Amino acid sequence: MENLTRRRILTLGAALGLVSVADVSHAWSWSSTGSIAGTDTVTDPFSVWDPTADEVAARLLADGAIPAVNTAWESWVNNSDSLPSGMPDYLTDYLSQVNRLPSWADSALLAASQKLYKRLSSYLFVSESLGSGILSTVIPREARAVYWSAGGADMKARAAKTFTFGYDLHSESAWEPTGHFVVSANKTRLVHSAVRNLLPNSPHFMATADEPKPISNGDILITFHSVATVAHNNLQKWGVTLSAAEQAADLHAWQVALHLLGVQDQFIPASWSDAQQQATQMLWPVVAPTVEGTSLAKTLLGYVEDPVLGLDTGFVSEMVRYLIGDEYSDWLGLPHDLVSRALIKAAWPAYVKFREGLSPIVPDGFYLFDQFVRGIAMLYLNNGTSATQTPITLPTANRPG
Ligand code: HEM
Repeated sequence: MENLTRRRILTLGAALGLVSVADVSHAWSWSSTGSIAGTDTVTDPFSVWDPTADEVAARLLADGAIPAVNTAWESWVNNSDSLPSGMPDYLTDYLSQVNRLPSWADSALLAASQKLYKRLSSYLFVSESLGSGILSTVIPREARAVYWSAGGADMKARAAKTFTFGYDLHSESAWEPTGHFVVSANKTRLVHSAVRNLLPNSPHFMATADEPKPISNGDILITFHSVATVAHNNLQKWGVTLSAAEQAADLHAWQVALHLLGVQDQFIPASWSDAQQQATQMLWPVVAPTVEGTSLAKTLLGYVEDPVLGLDTGFVSEMVRYLIGDEYSDWLGLPHDLVSRALIKAAWPAYVKFREGLSPIVPDGFYLFDQFVRGIAMLYLNNGTSATQTPITLPTANRPG
């Protein structure tokens, strides 16, 4: 009730000219009735971080314990692995609290997500790596945080670590005892906590920072929408039909992922329609170019072009244009290739339909698209075997410079 009143006051204030339009548009008004918590509250997720995990990371940094923890973590990979030895007690205590599924996790839905992702992974990888990967470079807070953190200086390794997370989530054993996702998510949560402690000491980062520390719950939700909600929309656009049960399974895997990343239940959307409303309010209005993001996009595209060698940069750029649109692509200065553009627009949906068995017609450019999809999948798969998976490690410093 208290928050309903707050919303009414904002509306009334705007009507009376007491609150500026800018204040109203920035005021957070998404009600948690549409969340896992189901409470009618309107807490601003951009003012919530992850205090318990952040404190553990602060102690690890102060104690100089991070190199030893990174070594101890090497053997901690499977969901069923016991916590490794060689870590400070306070880290072990913290992890023994959080290294588990929330009480509301639904094992049948998680099992259904594994089946779904097995079927869809190649399209998801295209949407998430090339689409969302480049989209992340026009999300100013994320682009600046990534650029000025230690990983920003070595984007190849950083992208590989992010692919580890995506691969583990979309693996057919993601939530099984032999799967990796719960562990990878917990490691990622602590990486974010280390970054929250480190980046406020970077004068470069703080020069343009607009929040006291980075990676609030709201920021994590923005990234979730730029990956999962965008992929959900892309599958629809490409004519990939998902049953209601499959859509629920996809959302549920992400709901549990968000929980494991430290997002409070009051912010985690309960349905795809709640997610779409949240994305409308938080993602699209903040997208903008930055110097840091443009530099990251160039580096990332260079990385993607390697494994799809044989496809020229024009094709890859036009695929990005197709995935994220011309406006953002122009900000990043991506080149045009009119031949590839025409082919992608006409033939990519036909390719997906053919692969899904929804159309008997072999589309133009079939082998080109196949080569492209395989190249993108390799980026994930190279990270998906335990022999070559790039381990997620805690940083000890910011990007120098
Ligand atoms: C690190 C995933 C949201 C900034 C990581 C890592 C993963 C990851 C897997 C570890 C790999 C690495 O060390 O590079 C995610 C996911 C998110 C999310 C799945 C949301 C769904 C965010 C947001 C920001 C952010 C919102 C900033 C606003 C960073 C930074 C690092 C990092 C700066 C550390 C890079 C370094 O080691 O220097 N993230 N992230 N992340 N993330 Fe996120």
